[in-house]
Amino acid sequence: MALEVFHKDETLEMRRKLIGQSCRLFFSHDPVKIIRARGQYLYDENGVQYLDCISNVQHVGHCHPSITKAAAAQMDLLNANTRFLHDNIVQYAKRLAATLPKKLCVFYFVNSGSEANDLALRLARQYTQHQDVIVLDHAYHGHLTSLIDISPYKFRKLEGQKEWVHVAPLPDTYHGIYREDHPNPGQAYADTLKSIIEEVHKKGRKISAFFAEALPSVGGQIIFPSGYCKRVAEYVHEAGGVYVADEVQTGFGRVGSHFWAFQLQGEDFCPDIVTMGKPMGNGHPLSCVATTEEIAGTFTANGVEYFNTFGGNPVSCAIGLAVLDVIENEDLRGNALRVGDHLRHLLSQLQTKHLIIGDVRFVRNYEICHIFKNILLCQILLFCSGVGLFVGMELVKDRVSRQPATEEAAQLVGRLKEERVVMSTDGPWDSVIKFKPPMCFSMEDADRVTMCIDQILTELESK
Ligand SMILES: Cc1ncc(COP(=O)(O)O)c(C=O)c1O
Repeated sequence: MALEVFHKDETLEMRRKLIGQSCRLFFSHDPVKIIRARGQYLYDENGVQYLDCISNVQHVGHCHPSITKAAAAQMDLLNANTRFLHDNIVQYAKRLAATLPKKLCVFYFVNSGSEANDLALRLARQYTQHQDVIVLDHAYHGHLTSLIDISPYKFRKLEGQKEWVHVAPLPDTYHGIYREDHPNPGQAYADTLKSIIEEVHKKGRKISAFFAEALPSVGGQIIFPSGYCKRVAEYVHEAGGVYVADEVQTGFGRVGSHFWAFQLQGEDFCPDIVTMGKPMGNGHPLSCVATTEEIAGTFTANGVEYFNTFGGNPVSCAIGLAVLDVIENEDLRGNALRVGDHLRHLLSQLQTKHLIIGDVRFVRNYEICHIFKNILLCQILLFCSGVGLFVGMELVKDRVSRQPATEEAAQLVGRLKEERVVMSTDGPWDSVIKFKPPMCFSMEDADRVTMCIDQILTELESK
């Protein structure tokens, strides 16, 4: 079978005519046409190889043979409606349960991160009998109507904020209201929620849920300050609400040290609902909601069946199981730790050379940062611990004002593409270069991408 049906120009022309123009392409002024991929490498119609630094969906690597084999074998055998009894769904739920705290032991399988978050909202409301939701500023939780409503990243550009939605400050210690020189930003940011809850109660309203990504990625690859989630969960529980951790981007070992990013906040923190998506099926549409027996019990007690035609079908679950096997067999969490730390180390070295690099995201010890007051020094000398292959590098116009260098970030990404490296930006000002590559990303890949960044920044500085 020919890998290319139409010439690139024709494909582009047809796409412009036939596909809704709000579905944007990467590099829209000069898109790449990718016709095959393997591991962390993409190949265009001329066989040119690109290093993929952004496909967190193809978690264990593009077209991993074990995943393809598992999918094809199950497709050849059976793919039936999920109302038939089958082993795959229970086997898969059991494997997922083993990765989570015991409390999260009931699963609902769905087909996208959006479906998972929408169901989480229903579960929270049914359980609490409350309506209101607190979200973090700049968050994105999905494209359904219900989720646009709880995604400031989207609703700010649309009809605005609903009366049942409350926005808490993003605990961003680089740009936010409490920064790295604060002795306890985790507590300080959590207290902003306490105030919001008090305001909500004054209006006679009640909180059903706090929704937050386990590490805010759309918000700019933010790492929560320590203690934040635990304190927030306490406040939300006191108000009768539940804590929903959106692990759609961050789950399945991306952070290396733990299987779930929320676990970075310590063993004494556990969300009430966890939503999963992107990496789960390595590209196959497979997502999930994990919750407690109590929350699931209330949802059952309403007497209405939850039926999802495709969610948790035998093929999806066979693929999900194969993804878990590959993560384990190829020690992809270990790889994420090693390569992630190497990449952060290289980026920190670049930070000493290029003033435009304002921040490389690290796990910080705020007490010590508070004493030294020099973020870069603290980073280099003391705490180079990161969070696996979840890496952010923020560009700024100057390090004192921390004004985001949005144009320069776009230029860097554009030039990287010319060097055959696919990268993207994120954050409120699109000034954060975000790395979220397939988990098989290697040391050599990290060397290559940082060398390219070094060259391009040197070139931009000389202009
Ligand atoms: C944090 C987060 N939650 C939810 C979603 C929605 O997932 P999906 O596109 O699979 O519906 C996304 C998608 O980008 C996301 O980044």
